[in-house]
Amino acid sequence: MTPSRVRFRATPRRLASLAALTLVSALAVPVLSPSPATAATPLRTLAAAKGKFIGFAAATSPLAGEAAYRTIAQTEFNQVTAENAMKWESTEPSDNNWTWSGADQIVDFAVANNQQVHGHTLVWHSQTPGWVQGLGATAMRTAMQDHIATVVGRYASNPAVVSWDVVNEVFDENGGFRTSFWYNTLGQGFIADAFRYARAADPNAKLCINDYNVEGINAKSTAMYNLVQSLRAQNVPVDCVGFQSHLATQYGFPSDMRQNLQRFAALGVEVRITELDIRIQTPRTSAKDATQAQYYTNAVNACLEVTACTGITIWGFTDKYSWVPDTFPSEGAALIYDENYQAKPAYTAVHTAFGGSPTGDTQAPTAPSGLASSGVTAGSVNLSWTASTDNVAVSGYDILRAPGASGGSFTQVGTAATTSFSSTGLSAGTTYRYQVRARDAAGNVSAVSNTVTVTTTTGGGTGGGCTAAATVQTQWQTGYVIEPVRVTNSGTSAISGWTVTFTLPAGHTITGSWNATLTTSGQTVTARNAAHNGNLGAGGSTAFGFQVSRPSGNTSTASGFTCATP
Ligand code: XIL
Repeated sequence: MTPSRVRFRATPRRLASLAALTLVSALAVPVLSPSPATAATPLRTLAAAKGKFIGFAAATSPLAGEAAYRTIAQTEFNQVTAENAMKWESTEPSDNNWTWSGADQIVDFAVANNQQVHGHTLVWHSQTPGWVQGLGATAMRTAMQDHIATVVGRYASNPAVVSWDVVNEVFDENGGFRTSFWYNTLGQGFIADAFRYARAADPNAKLCINDYNVEGINAKSTAMYNLVQSLRAQNVPVDCVGFQSHLATQYGFPSDMRQNLQRFAALGVEVRITELDIRIQTPRTSAKDATQAQYYTNAVNACLEVTACTGITIWGFTDKYSWVPDTFPSEGAALIYDENYQAKPAYTAVHTAFGGSPTGDTQAPTAPSGLASSGVTAGSVNLSWTASTDNVAVSGYDILRAPGASGGSFTQVGTAATTSFSSTGLSAGTTYRYQVRARDAAGNVSAVSNTVTVTTTTGGGTGGGCTAAATVQTQWQTGYVIEPVRVTNSGTSAISGWTVTFTLPAGHTITGSWNATLTTSGQTVTARNAAHNGNLGAGGSTAFGFQVSRPSGNTSTASGFTCATP
C-alpha cells in the first residue's frame, strides 16, 4: 500500500527564462564549424570525481530481461537501491519463510558492476505482510528483531551492501509520529529498537532513517531533526538520514534544501537524497522538461554543496518503469530517460551539475521535411517525414500537435527515434495539425517541419460498445496476477478508447499494471487504455494486466469486469 502523498505547498515558480531559452534555440541555428563529438562521460565517473555516488532504484524484471535497461544501469550508476525486492513483503511474505531471489539478483548485479547497495527497507508500515501487522507487542518486537537480523545478516559480510533504511516514513505531515501498526503496538520505542537490532546484525553498515516531504525546513523535517538528535544523544546508532525527494514541478523546488541538509549534517550524520524523481503534469512539453531539468540541477547542487551528503539515488531512471503514473493520476515523466531510453534534458542537467563538459556541439539539425499523413482512422493517424541531418548525429524527433485547422498552440505529443510516428487517442471527426522537429544529443533543436493537417474519420455510426474478459494467470498466498484482461470491440465501428472497471476485495492492493492506466477509488478500480491500445476496429481486441497483493490466507480475486467506451 503506497502512502498518500501530501503535495508541496510552495508557490509554483515559473522558470520563464529557461522556457524562453528553449524557444530561442528552436529558432536560431548558429552556423559553427563542426566539432568532433566527445565521448560522453558517464554520470558515475563524474559523481565519483566529486566524491559522491549516483544511484538508481532497480526493478527486478527489466534488470533481468531488458538489455537496454541493464546497459544504462551498469554504465551510468555506481549505486543501487532495490525498488521493492528487499521490502518485508518480498523477503519474508510469511513468518520465517524467506524469498531472496529478487534481493540477491540486485546485489549480484551490483557486485558484478562495482556498485554499492543501499538496503531498503527494514521497518515500514507499507508493503509489510498482514501476519506482522496483527501481532501483539511482544511477538511483534520479536518478529522485527528476527527480520532485521536475518535480512541484514544475510548481506553483512558482502562489502557491496553498505547501508540500510532501518525505519521508513515514521512521521505524519505535522511532525507527529505516524500512527502506524508499529507505533500503535510498540510505541515510539520501536525506532530505537530497530536501529539497535540492525547494528547488532551488521556493525559496519550505515543505518538510516528515511522519509518524504522532509527536503525543506518544515514541521515534519524538524520533527525528524529532533528525533535524530535525541536518538544519538541516547547512543542509538543512527548514522544517516535519507531525504526521499519525490518532487513535482508544479509544487516548486524546496529552496532551503541545502540549508536543511546542512542542519542535519551538523548533527554528525551522513545525509543522502534517496528516492529522487521530479514529476510533471503530463504530457511533456519542452517548457516542462526545462523546469524539471532545473530541479534536477538544484537537487544535485544541494548535495554537492553539503560535504556530508554522500550521494543521490534516482527512483528508477527510465520513464518506462516509474511508480509515478501509477500513484499520481495525470502525472509522470519524472525520470532522466524517456520510455525509449533516450536521455532527457534532465539527464543533461544531472550530467552538467556533476561537472560534465558539454560536447561543444552547438549546431542544430536541419528541419525535417516532407511531413505527410497516412492511415487516418477515427482515433489515429500515421505520420512520416524525411530525415534531418546534423553535424554530429540526430538523436530523435519531437512531434507537436495543435487543435483545429488554424489557431491554438502546438504541444508535444511524443518522440520518435525513427522518421515515423503513430498518433493515437484522437477524437473521431476532428481536425488536427502536426509538426515535427529534430534534436541532437547536445540538446540542439531544429526548426519545425512543414505542417500537415489531418481530419479523423467519423467512425461510421454509433454501434460502439466493448466487453472485458479477465483471466487469473497465477496466484500465491499473498497476491495474484490477472492477465490477460481481454478487451474486445463488440460494436460495428472503430473505437478510440475504452474503460474497464472492476472491484477489488477489501484489503487487496494493486502493486503493478501494464498496458492500461489504473486509478483506484475505494474498492473500485478504473483501467483506461494506454496511448497505444485505445484504437480498436470493429471486432478487434487488446489486453492489459495487473498484479495485486492481498492479505495472507485470503483467496478471493478481483471481479465484476465491465467495459465501456470511451
Ligand atoms: C514504491 C515503489 O516504487 C513501487 O513500485 C511500489 O509499488 C510502492 O513503493 N517511498 C518509499 C519507496 O520508501 O519504497 C516507495 O516505492 C515510494 C515511496
